[in-house]
Amino acid sequence: MRGVVLREVGRPVEVSDELTLRPPGPGQVRVRLRAAGVCHSDLSMCDGTLPAQLPLVPGHEGAGEVVELGPGVSGPPVGTHVILSWIPPCGSCFFCLGGQPNLCTAARASTAAPTLRLGDGPAHAALGVGCFAEETVVDARAAVPIPDDVPFDVAAVVGCAVLTGVGAVINTARVRPGSSVAVIGCGGVGINVIQGAALAGAATVLAVDRLSAKLEAVRLFGATHTATPDGLADAVKELTEGRGFDYAFEVVGRAATIRQAWDATRRGGATVVVGAGSFSEQVTFTAGELFAGERRLLGCVYGSGDVRTDFVRMLRLWRAGRLDLDGLISTRITLDGVGEAFTAMTSGRVIRSLVTF
Ligand code: APR
Ligand code: ZN
Ligand code: ZN
Repeated sequence: MRGVVLREVGRPVEVSDELTLRPPGPGQVRVRLRAAGVCHSDLSMCDGTLPAQLPLVPGHEGAGEVVELGPGVSGPPVGTHVILSWIPPCGSCFFCLGGQPNLCTAARASTAAPTLRLGDGPAHAALGVGCFAEETVVDARAAVPIPDDVPFDVAAVVGCAVLTGVGAVINTARVRPGSSVAVIGCGGVGINVIQGAALAGAATVLAVDRLSAKLEAVRLFGATHTATPDGLADAVKELTEGRGFDYAFEVVGRAATIRQAWDATRRGGATVVVGAGSFSEQVTFTAGELFAGERRLLGCVYGSGDVRTDFVRMLRLWRAGRLDLDGLISTRITLDGVGEAFTAMTSGRVIRSLVTF
């Protein structure tokens, strides 16, 4: 089959037709991809910001159709439409049983052995799903059923950007109606933080991005104010009487923007780190400031969500006209366009490029 392959970190991705899949084993299903969004974390794996095993088939924001079940697998049945979850909750580990399935520690176990081959050697599916290929073999629990009438493109973006962004607001931070919110980084994920904040009833939603093109798009998703990073301090003065925002979301994944988000958070407020940053970059805080202002610094994985219930919850909000998912998709591409889509994402020309098959 065809798929996008990264052979070496820092090199451009290429499309290969020498990929093959092992048949699904016990606990696994084979899924034919129908749509897959290009997320910044894919680029971060390809450029070395996030760790990845090589050769890699990137892509972790996808939707498709179940086409084969492994031995003994009871479902979802062949033909079911699914969103792929890049953390399949095992349902029985400490975190799953404790209500935090997004932190499941068994999530990668069933796909630890490569299901993919490139020529004669193994290849690795990004985050156990590898959506930039025609088909994928995944943990059966990574294939989360959705209603048949949901378009695959809308379903795909729910698989990462929407749950991560909206979940950060409603699950991680639990933003209260009437709050003030700042969002630093208005890409595919950040825009979902913005529309999540609007959904949660935030009174002020400040969108911050270094690209002016992004600051135009955000108004349609519920931002009430916009600023460039240089204008953030002034916005804090004007919009919060200098106190800082009730919540500041960092959706870039860099030390500098985490620090900016913290500095824009009021005493007693919360800074939420949504961006997936490098494991080697340091962020500096003094001991005093961590204690004195009683600010909370929160990490956020997959919007603190439970994919088993939250994917369809997002789709219900879309159906009700409360979340704009169609507007997230700027352009439709083929597998051959993924390399260019990385460039378009970095330059800010698109919110999401969507691979269709
Ligand atoms: N200050 C403000 N905005 C910035 C800065 C900065 N220093 N650097 C980048 N940005 C903006 C970009 O202009 C872009 O609009 O952040 C946005 C990032 O958006 P995308 O590239 O579309 O990335 P996205 O897919 O939204 O992911 C954002 O979340 O899941 C993680 O790994 C992902 O860390 C990444 C983050
Ligand atoms: Zn992602
Ligand atoms: Zn688990």
